[in-house]
Amino acid sequence: MPGLISQEFIDDLRNRVDIIEVIRDFVALKKQGQNYVGLCPFHAEKTPSFVVSPHKQIFHCFGCGKGGNVYTFLMERNGLTFPDAVTSLAHRCGIPIPQDGLSPEKAKQNSLREKFYHINELTADFFQKMLLHEAKGKEARHYLKRRGLVEQTCEKFLLGFAPNAWDELSCFLLKKGVLAEDLITLGLAVQGQQGRLIDRFRNRLIFPIMNFNSKIIGFGGRVLDDALPKYLNSPETPLFNKGRQLYGINLARGLIRNKDQAILMEGYLDVITAHQYGVTQAVATLGTALTEEQGKLLMRYTYNAVICFDADVAGQEATKRGLEILQQLGLNVSVMTIPEGKDPDEFLRKQGAEHFYKVLTQAYPLFEYNLLKLMEKYNQDTIAGKIQIIQELVPDLYRVQSPVNRQGYIQMLAERLSFPEKAIYAEIRNFQAERVKSRDGSGAEGQPREKEAVTAGEKAQRVLIRLVLEKPEIIRAVEEFGGKELFSDKLYQEIYRINYLLRQAGHNIKAEDLITHLENEEARRVLTEILLTEGFLQDGERIFRDCLITLGIELVNRIIEEKNVLMTQYEKNGDVTQSLKIMAEMQGMIKERQRLGSILTKGGNILEEGK
Ligand code: GTP
Ligand code: MN
Repeated sequence: MPGLISQEFIDDLRNRVDIIEVIRDFVALKKQGQNYVGLCPFHAEKTPSFVVSPHKQIFHCFGCGKGGNVYTFLMERNGLTFPDAVTSLAHRCGIPIPQDGLSPEKAKQNSLREKFYHINELTADFFQKMLLHEAKGKEARHYLKRRGLVEQTCEKFLLGFAPNAWDELSCFLLKKGVLAEDLITLGLAVQGQQGRLIDRFRNRLIFPIMNFNSKIIGFGGRVLDDALPKYLNSPETPLFNKGRQLYGINLARGLIRNKDQAILMEGYLDVITAHQYGVTQAVATLGTALTEEQGKLLMRYTYNAVICFDADVAGQEATKRGLEILQQLGLNVSVMTIPEGKDPDEFLRKQGAEHFYKVLTQAYPLFEYNLLKLMEKYNQDTIAGKIQIIQELVPDLYRVQSPVNRQGYIQMLAERLSFPEKAIYAEIRNFQAERVKSRDGSGAEGQPREKEAVTAGEKAQRVLIRLVLEKPEIIRAVEEFGGKELFSDKLYQEIYRINYLLRQAGHNIKAEDLITHLENEEARRVLTEILLTEGFLQDGERIFRDCLITLGIELVNRIIEEKNVLMTQYEKNGDVTQSLKIMAEMQGMIKERQRLGSILTKGGNILEEGK
């Protein structure tokens, strides 16, 4: 059967990827204790209840209840079938799927992407050879030298040169067997009149753009003089979307993670120079305002972003909006200002890395930076000026998530402007009231599903499930006491049953692996929630006993309830004998309930008594 991927491959792949990395493509995650949390992608919410465990490699939303492993996530998030989820994950990791296991259509899509990457590689090679070895590349070589870049740096960034000719690249690639249509799709050439191919990049220095995995997804090209446009980039292609990329991320991500900090620059050349000077946590946007995707890409590696833009740019509206986007994602954004309005490239070459790092330590958190800018703009000696500054900062303050930070900023603002804190708070409240008003008008905003209170019985079922998963030796005892019948809830029964069957069949299955074996989606949700609910199970035996008693009491309660209904019926029918008999039974049950209750309070041992 086509499309069948071996279980071995499925398990192997799951063990090779990190669910955190995968989910970060979709959700901004923040470390919290052992886990990562973020805003749930499956329902609208304002406070994060979506938890991912790197340890167990599972996710769970405590708001809407969705949960599972990396495959479940991809299926739910992207609306994929299971085989498609496996395929897309394998592809993301660059791991080939045994081809006979793929549907022909999938195999084609995969090979298409691979083919495109390959063409881009051939292209980069072509440009690189031009730059390094050909006579035509001489001017470009001089240009780079003038800009202070050494050969090693050029090689690291795969820099190249597109010759000053109409179709030299196209001819080269066609000769290698590349199809004209693919050249056009990848934006390397356009179709001129009479169907002739014309290279997009001509007489330009070439900057291959690589994704985090060092795959070449597009190109940027710079003129060697003052001609316009200065830069030309690849258009949108199946591989390239500039709003999602950060130039240099493949080379920077290691140090970004180690330093727990990324430096965002504007230009290709800023980043390249930075790396040459050892500032290898630098990346650049690709000439556009910052996007959410770029923020999320960064957040795979750090939560701290330092903006190192030209002074005039950092204050511009589009840039400000981009920085707000980063901040709203949960990144800590600060702004460093290079003295004398120089760009990072020039500054590094003139002053060196040490000086650069000194300036870096003087970066201002975004709020403070904005405040300083406004204080330059308005006269803070007048009341009107102060009010203007405060009003422009109120939206920023309103957005600050942490109450502690917000309090700190308000205090700072009050001090710098010698303005009462109370008045600033009042402004924020006004702003908030306005927002609520305008939102009421527009209506619908998704509300997270309220979580229902957990009853003692439900809690006991959960704990018992955790116990049998984490301490399998206890299963025998559970079986003696009724096994799955102990669980009043069908979902818990199901989880217990599947685990039991797998163990009976000799599988020494890990708790988090059980997810793959649960067909019932609800049961998977319940299981991930159980696995992600913190709390240690230290005194297993004692917890086990308490669970049994609690569940026992619940069971007795259910029986009493049933008997009560029955008794009322006999009474109605005038069957006094039966009614009395049931009543006696009920009293017995009530005694049993008391007995169980007292064990729970006195700490006797039900395991002993039951035998
Ligand atoms: P140099 O001027 O050589 O130092 O290059 P730079 O990389 O520092 O460029 P600059 O600071 O002028 O611009 C920053 C970034 O904006 C560039 O790296 C490009 O990504 C982008 N950019 C600049 N000019 C253009 C343009 O004319 N067209 C496009 N598409 N992008 C541009
Ligand atoms: Mn520059």
